[in-house]
Amino acid sequence: MGEQICIFGCGYVGLAAAAVLADLGHHVVGVDRDAARVLGLNEGRPPFREPGLEELIRSGLGSGRLSFTLDGAVAAGRSGVAMIAVGTPPSAGGAADLSQVEAVVRLIAAQPAGCELVVVKSTVPPGTAGQLQASLPSREVVSHPQFLRQGSALADMLHPPRRVVGARSPEAAERLIRLYARAPEVPFVRTDPTSAELAKYAGNGFLAAKVSFVNALARLCETVGGDIQDVVRVMGLDSRIGPDFLRPSIGFGGSCLPKDTLALVTLAREHGLAFEPGEATLAVNAAQPGWFAGRVLGALPPSPVVAAWGITFKAGTDDTRSSAALAVIDVLQAEGATVQAYDPLARAVPAGVRQCGSALAAAAGADAVVILTEWPEFQDADWQQVAAVMRGRQVFDGRNLIDPDRVAGTGLTLVPLGRGAALKEERVCGPW
Ligand code: UGA
Repeated sequence: MGEQICIFGCGYVGLAAAAVLADLGHHVVGVDRDAARVLGLNEGRPPFREPGLEELIRSGLGSGRLSFTLDGAVAAGRSGVAMIAVGTPPSAGGAADLSQVEAVVRLIAAQPAGCELVVVKSTVPPGTAGQLQASLPSREVVSHPQFLRQGSALADMLHPPRRVVGARSPEAAERLIRLYARAPEVPFVRTDPTSAELAKYAGNGFLAAKVSFVNALARLCETVGGDIQDVVRVMGLDSRIGPDFLRPSIGFGGSCLPKDTLALVTLAREHGLAFEPGEATLAVNAAQPGWFAGRVLGALPPSPVVAAWGITFKAGTDDTRSSAALAVIDVLQAEGATVQAYDPLARAVPAGVRQCGSALAAAAGADAVVILTEWPEFQDADWQQVAAVMRGRQVFDGRNLIDPDRVAGTGLTLVPLGRGAALKEERVCGPW
């Protein structure tokens, strides 16, 4: 039988969970404090682009098992399970700001009944579920971190490599696990709440470390003459390393990897420790956009016109939060470049940037094209056409996205990341 569930926070995590749990047969109410968002959701319009989400929300609304409300108290009073999926942005000092989580807990605590099980899905510092438990003595608080990637949130919600349940009591863990009875079978890792919370930070911190490791390695390749693509291929074929998250880039962004790595570093500091891998990861990442922009500017005439292809923090999303593309554009502008940008999904461009309707329009009259987001459509660009509309000849690939063979013969010079040998004149666009 389906549970009555209220989910606080209608962001990526909350909405993906709400839509999927309703689809699995539960009655779900999504709660948000943003009236326009709630109104839109009740009409089947999610506030952001995520493949499949709109259809699933509409199906949930149609079945009568999914609805959205501003009234958290009523929703909590009627639900057996509450899920907390509100934001935990970094505060000024770098630690997670838990004020939204705490507000939800106060609201639940004020209800005489309902929400016997309180599930924390927001990413919170280790120990938080334990602290919240003290404010909710008659309820069970469990930690159930979510590992969703934007762009594949629904698939990650339904088919994750594992689900993590950090609970004090076996009964609470069982009740949470039963919510997924009709979902495809995946392993559950049962642990204590603090370990579950730490595992979430650790996962994102480790992914971030992989990216920074490769970005630092790419710079080394440029100096010593190696080819990062070959190096990561060799690394990735070792199953102990794995092939994922080894793509060199202008840096990792988004609302998770930077925030959670910083949170790990801050947590360690608060306890008198240093989390050196996290510090190094962040330092490499902070320097990467400036380094990339510097190499672009160094190769161009003063006050150049630069075509920025991509604004979002990665492909498949309209999200520009902590996007490394924006950091690159910032430096380019600060150093006197005029930037004309195109992104298939980003809704707005930074102040002073001219927003273009296509990659080709952005390239028109530009001294250089810089690839900042790994959108597949950039791989399929017609480079003859691009060359014909550009003023300059250089294409700086901040994602190693472009196949050099496709640019060969167009008169353009492709400058990838970390392909030391490839940067040499005789190998530019050469056969490798
Ligand atoms: C990340 C994690 O991948 C998810 O597992 C996690 O659940 C989620 O955070 C979360 O905590 O909610 P997401 O922020 O959607 O997901 O983005 P990622 O796919 O991890 O990409 C993060 C950044 O790293 C992007 O800017 C991407 O371009 C960059 N990246 C990724 C690289 O530069 N190189 C790579 O090889 C991989």
